[in-house]
Amino acid sequence: MLKPFYLRDSEAHKRLLQLAEADGHRSVPEFFAEEPNRFEAMHAETLGILMDWSKQRISAATMNALYDLASEADWKDGRKALFSGAAINQTEGRAVLHMALRADEGDIFEVNDSDVMPSVLDVREKMLAFADEVRSDEDITDVVNIGIGGSDLGPLMVTKALRRFSDGGPAIHFVSNVDGAHLDSVLQELSPRSTLFIVVSKTFTTQETMANAMAAKEWLVNSLGESSVKAHFAAVSTNLDAAGGFGIDAKRIFGFSDWVGGRYSLWGPVGLSIACGVGSGHFKSMLKGARAMDVHFQEAPDDQNLPLISALTGIWSREYLGLETQVVLPYAQDLDRLPAYLQQADMESNGKSTGRDGKPVAHATGAVVWGEAGTNGQHAFYQLLHQGTSIHPADIIAVKTSMSSHLGHHQKLLANAIAQAEALMVGKTKGQVVAEMKAKGLSQTEIDAIAPHRVFEGNRPSTFFLLDQLDPETVGSLIAFYEHRIFVQGLIWNICSYDQWGVELGKVLANQILNEWNEDAKGAHDPSTMALMTRMKT
Ligand code: F6P
Repeated sequence: MLKPFYLRDSEAHKRLLQLAEADGHRSVPEFFAEEPNRFEAMHAETLGILMDWSKQRISAATMNALYDLASEADWKDGRKALFSGAAINQTEGRAVLHMALRADEGDIFEVNDSDVMPSVLDVREKMLAFADEVRSDEDITDVVNIGIGGSDLGPLMVTKALRRFSDGGPAIHFVSNVDGAHLDSVLQELSPRSTLFIVVSKTFTTQETMANAMAAKEWLVNSLGESSVKAHFAAVSTNLDAAGGFGIDAKRIFGFSDWVGGRYSLWGPVGLSIACGVGSGHFKSMLKGARAMDVHFQEAPDDQNLPLISALTGIWSREYLGLETQVVLPYAQDLDRLPAYLQQADMESNGKSTGRDGKPVAHATGAVVWGEAGTNGQHAFYQLLHQGTSIHPADIIAVKTSMSSHLGHHQKLLANAIAQAEALMVGKTKGQVVAEMKAKGLSQTEIDAIAPHRVFEGNRPSTFFLLDQLDPETVGSLIAFYEHRIFVQGLIWNICSYDQWGVELGKVLANQILNEWNEDAKGAHDPSTMALMTRMKT
């Protein structure tokens, strides 16, 4: 178990409160003017990822107090507990060892004193051999991943991110929503003979996934008969019996253990659709990149440790500046599902208000994560980012090497990414606006009427990530970076990052309503719920 930590009782917290008063609202351009080497001091680089947090509203003194906060929370002990296989998922009594799924032969990961690596490596070998077999099977042109949440978002995000590495592999599709239109829209493009379905569900009981898997099976069987299921279905689950009961050939069922959380699972068999898309070689490179980030996280000094620093700047924004969201802006179309993936990874992990001691926490926890690929977001919600009444710290992610042959596009894309970070920080004063308008010959009346609308307050924080390239290794490192950032924040916020009790109530009620619906039974609900049910039924 991780030790409890009471942020607001810590010594560092007291200093951070004072610093929030003194420095939290100072302008970042002022910091730059005072600290000529601010960029040098507030950027770090590893594994082809440069992270620049110099545009955060943070002084050097604040950074030191944040490192002290992490020390008071015994973050190094917590990190050790994570990697040791201790049951840090305390409410479910489980270890949290997704790092084992990307480990190398010779690495040591144990749960209850038992080495998990032989089975991890065995399943990895089998699933990658299967993926390569699928890729070389000319009869299979399309693979459909049926899953939801962690059994969908990670594989979908990575498959898109690594689309350039598919090298003639099958097209990979994703069906998640229990809206049948999702399945229809995918199946309408496909032919049963050339389609492989991979049913991905840790529990193999999830309503949405089971409904989609059954409907896909029916579609296949209607066309090719019952015997086709064995050749056209594979499954990934911890519930091997249920997958077998569905009619899937035991040789095509890939298992994993309960110490892998759904939203942290893409590194193992849950990543089968990624491996079908890019092949075993690229999949292994992705694991290599993630493992390298694990090593970095464990070994880098605090002031170079990317996940630690990013976690701390996030805590500063959330707790001390009172900023409620974290916007993720990938300036890479291939990373356009990263915000959705991070929504689950972060918000399902740290969107909690009960402490590890079972008592309500006294401080702010997980931010609302949202975002969209740049430059599309610029033409949608950046107006609010620049001039809205609320401030949203941004992670801006750009890739140095172009992902397309349109090199002119890439320069424009990068210019936009840097320009946005700069604009958010420097803003534009009334004096500048007025001078510009005067220079354009506008009248004083026009200037008085329009100038206030053209002022940008600035001082809106961002961290800039510059990736050398978007290759499998870097993608692996980037995802592992975010996983560890989430861990550090959960640790300091004293919450249980690896359960997800908050999704249960809605699931239970949906099943209850469904039963009442089918049985025409009357349940006890509030008047609004009852009225809506009646409307839907009639
Ligand atoms: O949304 C809740 C959740 O339990 C997620 O944590 C999980 O990733 C998703 O449902 C899917 O679960 P499963 O893989 O068991 O189908």
